[in-house]
Amino acid sequence: MLIGTATSAYQVEGNNKNSDWWYYEKIGKLKYKSGLSSDHYHLYRTDIDIMKKLNLNSYRFSIEFSRIYPNRNNIDKKEIEHYKEVISDLNKNQIEPIVTLWHYTLPKWFLDIGGFENRENINIFIDYVEVLLKHGLDIRYVLTMNEPLAYSINSYLVGKYPPFERSIIKFLRVQNNLIEMHNKLYRLLKQYDYEVSFAHAMYSFFNKNLVYPAYKISNYILNEEMLRRTKLDFIGINYYKAISMIPRPSLRRPFKTEMRWRINPDGLYSLIKSINFEYHKPIMITENGVATKNEVLRGDFIRSHFNRVLRAKREGVPVIGYMYWSFIDNFEWIYGYTKHFGIVAFDPMTLKRHIKPSAYVLKNIAIRYRRY
Ligand code: BGC
Repeated sequence: MLIGTATSAYQVEGNNKNSDWWYYEKIGKLKYKSGLSSDHYHLYRTDIDIMKKLNLNSYRFSIEFSRIYPNRNNIDKKEIEHYKEVISDLNKNQIEPIVTLWHYTLPKWFLDIGGFENRENINIFIDYVEVLLKHGLDIRYVLTMNEPLAYSINSYLVGKYPPFERSIIKFLRVQNNLIEMHNKLYRLLKQYDYEVSFAHAMYSFFNKNLVYPAYKISNYILNEEMLRRTKLDFIGINYYKAISMIPRPSLRRPFKTEMRWRINPDGLYSLIKSINFEYHKPIMITENGVATKNEVLRGDFIRSHFNRVLRAKREGVPVIGYMYWSFIDNFEWIYGYTKHFGIVAFDPMTLKRHIKPSAYVLKNIAIRYRRY
């Protein structure tokens, strides 16, 4: 089984100066600045050494579109080489690279011509991916994109992420375009024999029996629709939390984590089982994590969620991997560096890495189950 961690380029690399997020950080429209982050761009070898030390056999990361395509007339081959080196270093260390082709951020110029709101722009992204593929990516697993629904909601419906739009029509347009793009990318990637999916944010629900029809609708929109409309070789699940179907029953409940999300490991088990029942495809947990400074809590979180994954696998569900989010504390979008998801921390001055106690929980899991 693949046991590893996940990151995204913008959140860990630092200095992604040609992206839309960087632009909005600079003009002050976003509260926090990503800056140098953990400088994973230059320190990836140090980080791969840590992964190796932790016995992890896989690593999910993303290729930064805005680095390779900094302006409309220029694909930067040096940057393609960079990611090829990361892949080759992972392979040399027997760590399976799982590559996300697009994780939220866009080149600023691409957003300026309409981003994914403009259907024609899908082809620009597909052509760009084709250039990448022609350079030869020595990998097996590809995720075309990260959480397309969360992206279109945050960027086009509720206006939290660039370009801060609030329009149902734009949201639906972007969502449809992303689905179309995924399916086109799927066809392209299959010519190169990759195993293809996207990372889909999925949720479990509390109090569903009390408002069953509302639950069915929410479940369809958030969990199901994307899976029905996309071509997939395996199903990539990002799982963090349960949503309560009854508003605000939680006012009296003490929140234990920095994101104030409702932790529910059993929900992950039920999700895996129901997806398996419905789709009969291999499943990869492409993200699962908690933001906290409490290492006992993080250790328990990892143990309890992994146990549910294992239970499903023992019952016959083909689960191919579990990626903890995240390898290292990083730029948590609109919350900047105030949330701590990593099993590794870094000192922002010296960039020195510090392995947290919960990393050893994941290490023990990896030692025990990597051959399972
Ligand atoms: C996203 C990550 C994010 C994490 C924690 C996921 O939905 O893919 O980029 O950091 O959630 O909020």
